[in-house]
Amino acid sequence: MAAPDSTSSTASTLRLAPPANSRMGGKDFTWGVATASYQIEGAIHEDGRLPSIWDTFSAVPGKVLHGDTGEFACDHYHRFESDVDLMAQLGVDAYRLSTAWPRVMDAQGKPNPKGLDFYKRLFDRLEAKGIDRFVTLYHWDLPQHLEDRGGWLNRDTAYRFADYADLMSREFKGQVKAWCTLNEPWCSAYLGYGNGHHAPGRTDPRFSTQAMHHLLLGHGLALQALEANDPGALRGLVANIGRGTTDRDTPADREAAHLYEVQHNDWVLGPLLKKEYPKDLFKLWPGTEPLVLPGDMDVIGGKLDFLGINYYFHLNLRSDGKHGFVDVPLEGVERTQMGWQVHPQGLQDLLVDFKARYPNLPPIYITENGMASDDKVVNGTVDDSQRISFLNRHFAAISGAMDKGVDVRGYFVWSLIDNFEWAFGYERRFGIVHVDYATQQRTLKQSAKSFTEFLKARAAG
Ligand code: FCB
Repeated sequence: MAAPDSTSSTASTLRLAPPANSRMGGKDFTWGVATASYQIEGAIHEDGRLPSIWDTFSAVPGKVLHGDTGEFACDHYHRFESDVDLMAQLGVDAYRLSTAWPRVMDAQGKPNPKGLDFYKRLFDRLEAKGIDRFVTLYHWDLPQHLEDRGGWLNRDTAYRFADYADLMSREFKGQVKAWCTLNEPWCSAYLGYGNGHHAPGRTDPRFSTQAMHHLLLGHGLALQALEANDPGALRGLVANIGRGTTDRDTPADREAAHLYEVQHNDWVLGPLLKKEYPKDLFKLWPGTEPLVLPGDMDVIGGKLDFLGINYYFHLNLRSDGKHGFVDVPLEGVERTQMGWQVHPQGLQDLLVDFKARYPNLPPIYITENGMASDDKVVNGTVDDSQRISFLNRHFAAISGAMDKGVDVRGYFVWSLIDNFEWAFGYERRFGIVHVDYATQQRTLKQSAKSFTEFLKARAAG
């Protein structure tokens, strides 16, 4: 039976499932949920954790909606046992989490035993429940002391990141199925150093290209440490990708959409998979070529066992009349609480396009996909039918890409629980499990209940 796709049905009649006969329903396809340290852990002053750039940034008035910070978040640091039990109840195969660099290393680069112990207990509990660990090393919480020395604008940060990867892969050798070096370097480089919407809030396109280079160099150096210390684990990077098309059929507008995708996607994929930055990036931002030292691109282009893909939305683009693009929101299209345009087909189109343009594209895991909605608990239930429909349509899109030959191995819903959504704080709810931040009570939304049924049926079948 095809996955139901109805916005008029109620949540109780909508089932979350990939299309019938999709290879996504097979037992070798990994189904999981994802989170990130700063967004859920809280406990920012405990057990020797050092300040991160997100503590600093969110303390600045006006940077985060309603002045929210990650100080308490979902209190996962103290509730990780019951949160793991929740995952076991859902029946997921894997959990994608991130470890907090400022929790596990001190300012001299020495291990912090208490911080490491938290992850040890977390990994042990996941293992006991039969849940695989997909561990992201950098999901944006750079130690503030490194930002004080220039952050990702300082080449030295790439080497410090490799030290951190070295520590983690020695410490947790054999306990991690897949290491993801960086989460969404585009966001760290562009939102962090280009337009300043994210920590550390710096603003210059030149900064963003240099920060990107150092992030990717750090990734390449980290790959080497991971391979040396934990050769049995998979190694990859997680990239956010965006679909850009234009509603105006002119060469200038088509070029605008192309430049958007270059800036959003190929800026990361080019160096990783072709060992070069896309030339068109510098059409968009003339004179911003980063300083690249001999040998850097070979390090950056080190072998990936997988590529993690995060996909959320589509933009409609037009020429800005110069060399760039402007985003012109479409009327009458479905949007999420973030205002993001829903466009599942874009994910399929991008995956198929990457396979054609990057011959050495590694196997793919969809490491994030999901949507925010203004979910409320009413009589103990949360009707998130838009999310169920959204997810089903994305499953169908992924399945279609697999049918067209793209090697997709797994899918992680963003997110397990509602959490600190960066510059949007706690207002935007991405979880399949609702969090009441006053009481920290977790309530399964309809999507989570339906996910559980699907996973149970698959395990039984
Ligand atoms: C991605 C981030 C993730 C989450 C989702 C909604 O860009 O990786 O932490 O905030 O967006």
